[in-house]
Amino acid sequence: MKICVIGLGYVGLPTAAMFASNGHYVVGVDVCCRILDALGRGETFICEPGLGKVVRWAVSEGRLIAKNEPEPADAYIICVPTPISPDLSADLSYIERAVRSILPCVRKGNMVILESTSPPGTTRDLVCGLLRGSGLIPGDDFFVAYCPERVLPGRILSELVNNSRVIGGINKESAIRVRNLYSCFVRGEMYITDSATAEMCKLVENTYRDVNIALAAELAMVCEKLGINAWEVIRYANKHPRVNLHQPGPGVGGHCIAVDPWFIVQKQPETARMIKLARMINDAMPKYVLKRIKALMKGISGVRRVCVLGVTYKPDVDDIRESPVIRLVSMLRAEGGYSVITVDRHADYEGSKERDLYEAVKGCHLLLLAVNHREFERVDFVRIRERMAYPCVLDTRNYWRAEEVEAAGLVYHLLGWGKQTYEEGHDGGIPVPAVRGLGGPEER
Ligand SMILES: NC(=O)c1ccc[n+]([C@@H]2O[C@H](COP(=O)([O-])OP(=O)(O)OC[C@H]3O[C@@H](n4cnc5c(N)ncnc54)[C@H](O)[C@@H]3O)[C@@H](O)[C@H]2O)c1
Repeated sequence: MKICVIGLGYVGLPTAAMFASNGHYVVGVDVCCRILDALGRGETFICEPGLGKVVRWAVSEGRLIAKNEPEPADAYIICVPTPISPDLSADLSYIERAVRSILPCVRKGNMVILESTSPPGTTRDLVCGLLRGSGLIPGDDFFVAYCPERVLPGRILSELVNNSRVIGGINKESAIRVRNLYSCFVRGEMYITDSATAEMCKLVENTYRDVNIALAAELAMVCEKLGINAWEVIRYANKHPRVNLHQPGPGVGGHCIAVDPWFIVQKQPETARMIKLARMINDAMPKYVLKRIKALMKGISGVRRVCVLGVTYKPDVDDIRESPVIRLVSMLRAEGGYSVITVDRHADYEGSKERDLYEAVKGCHLLLLAVNHREFERVDFVRIRERMAYPCVLDTRNYWRAEEVEAAGLVYHLLGWGKQTYEEGHDGGIPVPAVRGLGGPEER
């Protein structure tokens, strides 16, 4: 088949590459010239294991070509962004433009598939409504379905193949045809349903995780007040066969978990109360961490220098969208009296990519572990201590062993524990080591 993939980002390009390497001809469409130029050369900007190789092969074999507008094909797969608007509703304008762009191309027997995360009803109401402008009847003349992605950045290619999928058709025939199309590379189960159910299903998967993380975040705050180690509580509670608590951190980011729950709230603002509260709790975490930093830095006179390790929204990826750490950095700067330097070899953010950790900590008063990137697991705390002006470490991910940090002469603080230093504060001298680490890699 000839397949037109509209939007060549994190979802669209790997999807296009999978179809191209499994027997189809793919036209990859994007509005961004930089992406098209790179793809024309067989290159990609998306840092995903294995993707570069598949793309290079598909382009060199003429299986995948880059275009700036759609052309007639058998199937159209829409993978454009659905960001959140300032009023916390889904911005569907990208979908609207993408659907309009295929209107002159759609023919009888075609498939139109929406992959972009959308509020329930989008495929049936918005997409089909616009597609009627082709003069053909969706469901009768051609087939329309919603087929969301569940991929995890960093493992996109293998998850595209192995994850199960929920495919929601505007009628049964649409769902079946789309399932058959994806069966060329999907090895996971494919369940078919109606489009609104599939849309809701996608949203609720991320909402479940958001609510779970909010619970962990709240637990961290409660435990800090009670002098209990939240990480230890979570670890032991998860020994229960039916408990799976997530972990706290400096907030929730990315453009899925931090965004998708709002698409449910938008539809039912009065009813979706817990979903909204969880969002608000997670959104408030950078501010909570800021509060802890301020308490830890209370005794420092002059500019407090903070070195932040990790700015991406999660470990071992280059994605900084909706990153709570970047929000925290901005808040610190807005406070006044703080100078912040970031280190993250994954992220294009304020030179953090090129920065050496041991250079960055020079003269700093606080080392903040914000993202547990693999490379931060083993660092030389003695070298760090030698360079810092004040020996304070705040670990927001329970990534380091307190014993190891403190053996180097640093003082270790952990988000989710630390009653003495947070509640009572300290007198401005070096804070008393308050936390004995019970976490550690093998215990997470
Ligand atoms: N990234 C993920 O891990 C992930 C996972 C599941 C679902 N999703 C959802 O998939 C959708 C796409 O996400 P993404 O991460 O791939 O976004 P992205 O921003 O990485 O890529 C989207 C691409 O679409 C292009 N585009 C925008 N308007 C266009 C148009 N009219 N025609 C052609 N191209 C256009 C942009 O230039 C961009 O390259 C979103 O709805 C997102 O919520 C993403």
